[in-house]
Amino acid sequence: MTSKEIREAYLSFFKSKSHQIVPSAPVVVKNDPTLMFTNAGMNQFKEFFLGEAQPKFARVADTQRCLRVSGKHNDLEEVGIDTYHHTLFEMLGNWSFGDYFKKEAISWAWELLTEVYKLDKDRLYVTIFEGDDKEGLTRDMEAFDFWKALIAEDRILLGNKKDNFWEMGETGPCGPCSEIHFDMRSDAERAAEPGQDLVNADHPQVIEIWNLVFMQYNRLKNGSLEPLPARHIDTGMGFERLVRAIQGKTSNYDTDVFQPIIQYIAGRSGIAYGADEKTDIAMRVLSDHIRAVSFAIADGQLPSNNKAGYVIRRILRRAVRYAYTFLDFKSPFLNELVPLLAKQFEGVFDELIQQQGFVQKVVLEEEVSFLRTLTTGIQRFENYAADHRAVDGDFAFELFDTFGFPIDLTDLLSREKGLTVDMDGFQHALQQQKERSRAATAVDTGDWVVLQDDEESVFVGYDQLEATTQVLKYRKVTAKGKEQYQLVLSVTPFYAEGGGQIGDSGVLISDNNEKTYILDTKKENGLIVHFVQALPISLEGNFKAIVDSAKRQDTENNHSATHLLHAALKSVLGDHVNQKGSLVTQDILRFDVSHFAKITAEEIKQVEDIVNQKIRENIALKEERMVPFQDALDAGVTALFGEKYGDYVRVISFDETFSKELCGGTHVLATGQIGFFKITSESAVAAGVRRIEAITGTQAYAVIREQFELVAKMRDLLNNPKDFVSAVSKLIDDNGDLKKEIENNIRERSLAMKKDLESKFEVIDGVNFLAVQVDLPNADAVKTLAYALKGQVENLFLVIGANFDGKPSLTVAISDELAKARGWNAGTIVKDLAKDIQGGGGGQPFFATAGGKLSAGLSSAIARARDFVK
Ligand code: ALA
Repeated sequence: MTSKEIREAYLSFFKSKSHQIVPSAPVVVKNDPTLMFTNAGMNQFKEFFLGEAQPKFARVADTQRCLRVSGKHNDLEEVGIDTYHHTLFEMLGNWSFGDYFKKEAISWAWELLTEVYKLDKDRLYVTIFEGDDKEGLTRDMEAFDFWKALIAEDRILLGNKKDNFWEMGETGPCGPCSEIHFDMRSDAERAAEPGQDLVNADHPQVIEIWNLVFMQYNRLKNGSLEPLPARHIDTGMGFERLVRAIQGKTSNYDTDVFQPIIQYIAGRSGIAYGADEKTDIAMRVLSDHIRAVSFAIADGQLPSNNKAGYVIRRILRRAVRYAYTFLDFKSPFLNELVPLLAKQFEGVFDELIQQQGFVQKVVLEEEVSFLRTLTTGIQRFENYAADHRAVDGDFAFELFDTFGFPIDLTDLLSREKGLTVDMDGFQHALQQQKERSRAATAVDTGDWVVLQDDEESVFVGYDQLEATTQVLKYRKVTAKGKEQYQLVLSVTPFYAEGGGQIGDSGVLISDNNEKTYILDTKKENGLIVHFVQALPISLEGNFKAIVDSAKRQDTENNHSATHLLHAALKSVLGDHVNQKGSLVTQDILRFDVSHFAKITAEEIKQVEDIVNQKIRENIALKEERMVPFQDALDAGVTALFGEKYGDYVRVISFDETFSKELCGGTHVLATGQIGFFKITSESAVAAGVRRIEAITGTQAYAVIREQFELVAKMRDLLNNPKDFVSAVSKLIDDNGDLKKEIENNIRERSLAMKKDLESKFEVIDGVNFLAVQVDLPNADAVKTLAYALKGQVENLFLVIGANFDGKPSLTVAISDELAKARGWNAGTIVKDLAKDIQGGGGGQPFFATAGGKLSAGLSSAIARARDFVK
């Protein structure tokens, strides 16, 4: 079977078992502070497990793109070195939300593997949870009994908490699990050593392919387990490993998932895959990392210098470094793999092919800039190696941190030079950095204190700004040493930050008139969380929740204007323009779009014209709340990459032929309310991404008034000329003319002074000596004078003192031959003389200057000059 057929067989098998096939969520996670990237198929369903929201379907299945490069599940360092870990991998999964449980999950898994995929039963092993006394968890005899009906008892192995109790993260849904392992060793090897001993023992040919999790608990912050409201099934099968097992390969990279890319790399590098261990590792790293990098970018995470963006940048750099060092790609190469990958995933994850040009461009730019850094880093290393016998930990860390050198590269370069690397020192420095960044971002979230259970929280903020409500639960949060509380309300008009729009703020008023200010509102999985500084005295009873309406209205102006802007940009620049980021606050709107050139002033004007035209048309908002996702797409709605959409979506239109977007935000009822739209800046944020900032309504009005006042003030200063611009130009021209005239004047004065001074030289020991204080206004004038004298007088030794704007200066000029012959140096001399004026300076042997603070010292400096000639 081809990998494509294997994937399709999985989905159609579960479809036949009444599962709804759903799309993969993006790899970049929003609305979950415990996670940066999707690390398991179940992430997008977390809220269903926790009972925070109700699923539309009780059974679903999909293939989810996952990234295990940070946090609890992190495989990055293994990737490429071994043959079965990946940064990005596909996780095939089937889920039951409170529907079927262990029996079906186990028997369907077995049916699919042995009857559809026809895997050899003699190569399969399963594990069940042995129990854990400390946690009060018993052995999973239920799973054991279900397995016993399908597989020989000696193939059912016990597993400990590490292997057989799956947890999403430090907190969150979890439960005992049952894993299925596949033994790919040769018959001879299998006869020699029983596979049972190799399960979960890091053997490269005896690997886990599928994990069936029986979700029953929520791991709390305090470490305890809380039973979930219902029991669920969460399974995850490593697609690349499954393909390997079915295709009978001993490495994931030998399957048709990776071979096309590996063969392309081999062709371009001129090195065969399989020729050498080092180049093989490099090819595996490249073929793997390009997947993680490409999908992260397609899903909206651009490489950057912090957080998730930095993780992606590091993966990309790891790949570039392997390409550079082991495959001799000294110029950008990685980006060439993007189109291959996009084609491979067409029909599976179309996000890549739809944004191929953009993703490739971003990768290319990153490569170009990192190759530059890499060259500098290698130079830095060479310099260091030239005068060190060993590489200390701090230097290895600097190479790692500043130049992106993984420690194995530093080790390799060092060994080539016969140097050792202080690995412990490096680890120490790395650890310290981790602790620093943890301390900087540490957020300590307490467990929820539940006041009312089984209540769903209802959002009413599209229709009203006030509601009567109750507190369902609360918790304490400490971030950067500051304490805050979070509240979940039964009914809330507060919009939670999302889709670029900031969260609402406002107030919660209790029955006895106690006011608790809501500072911000955010989403966390399925919850709307309100931030308050302190809890109300009593959390019981009814509250009135009131949104700050002025802030909301200004924000809505900016949000609706963002939609108009998006549509206008598409019509002026073209359809390739996609939203890459958006921030909508009460003050500004900031909109990032994929576009490869600077947006010209003319284009900006056209965009502004269109948006303002649409504002004046006062187009009424059309809001549709429960549109089936596919219907919306068919109707030509603008959906965003990197956004996770549910089965039903909300569609916001302003004139359906102009702007029609999927959006969860709040909007004006008619465009006229926006008042006025003005772009304030256009700039580059990353390769291929332009940023537009604009203002509307109240803000635009304030800025325009300010500008008018500014111009009025300036006109006033110029006595209200008819033509303001030509009046200013004339002012600038006149000023230039005057400057020139002054300079000429000064030059004339210097030359006149020269005539006067020529006769004042005194001959000392064959030297024409003069030390004098003059009245000239600047360094240029003194220089002109000094050079004029130097051109006229032979064997000259000249010292000039002057005050420029009250600051003393000294100039020393010596004829070139004289300086050489006597070994004099004007620079050293001026430094010495400058002590008298409390200053310093320098220059060349024949001309040097110094500035100082003490004008009174000029005369003594001039008097002392003679000493240097004597
Ligand atoms: N969530 C489970 C895993 O990732 C299936 O292994």
